[in-house]
Amino acid sequence: MPYSVAIVVGSLRKDSFNRKIANTFIKVVPATLKPEIVEIGGLTFFNQDIEADPPASWVAFKSKIKAADAVLFVTPEYNRSMPGVLKNAIDIASRPYGLSAWDGKPAGIISGSIGAVGGFGANHHLRQSLTYLNMPAMQQPEAYLGSLAECVDAKGELLERTRQFIAKFAEAFAVWVAQHAQR
Ligand code: FNR
Repeated sequence: MPYSVAIVVGSLRKDSFNRKIANTFIKVVPATLKPEIVEIGGLTFFNQDIEADPPASWVAFKSKIKAADAVLFVTPEYNRSMPGVLKNAIDIASRPYGLSAWDGKPAGIISGSIGAVGGFGANHHLRQSLTYLNMPAMQQPEAYLGSLAECVDAKGELLERTRQFIAKFAEAFAVWVAQHAQR
């Protein structure tokens, strides 16, 4: 049975480059993985006061993460860090203390930016959280996709060279997941 992969996209923007990357990953991934985007745009802000009686959006998100064998984060960089919507989602599924849905799940990170640095800051701030969350995060190949506005054709589709990079990343991630998934 293929390993299920929850893909969390750190941008809510309709024409998001990072969502295009996630959708391309879904198309090129090896058959040993079954990826699906888990949406984070409907999650209300994390508030510790309501942890004991969480809103339905939190419960549904957490159960999707819990059910996944692995997680792929595809995220832009905002102000040299991860976007707040992504951190909010991470915090929600990490609680209550001791009952994190992320625990032990192998992870991959692709950061994407229109800038030259490819979201390096977001990528590595996210890695800091994944260390605490006990998620073995694939180290190589690294994926900092820069200058994304120049990586799409006239129809807004990612260029072949970018697709090929994502396919190589997906191949390595499939091996990583098979090595680290807890089932
Ligand atoms: C950005 N952007 C940006 N880019 C970057 O390389 N480093 C950064 O620190 C930031 N900071 C930043 C903050 C905020 C609030 C916004 C809205 C944007 C630009 C960013 O790379 C660009 O908007 C991407 O297109 C965002 O990714 P999506 O939405 O296309 O997936």
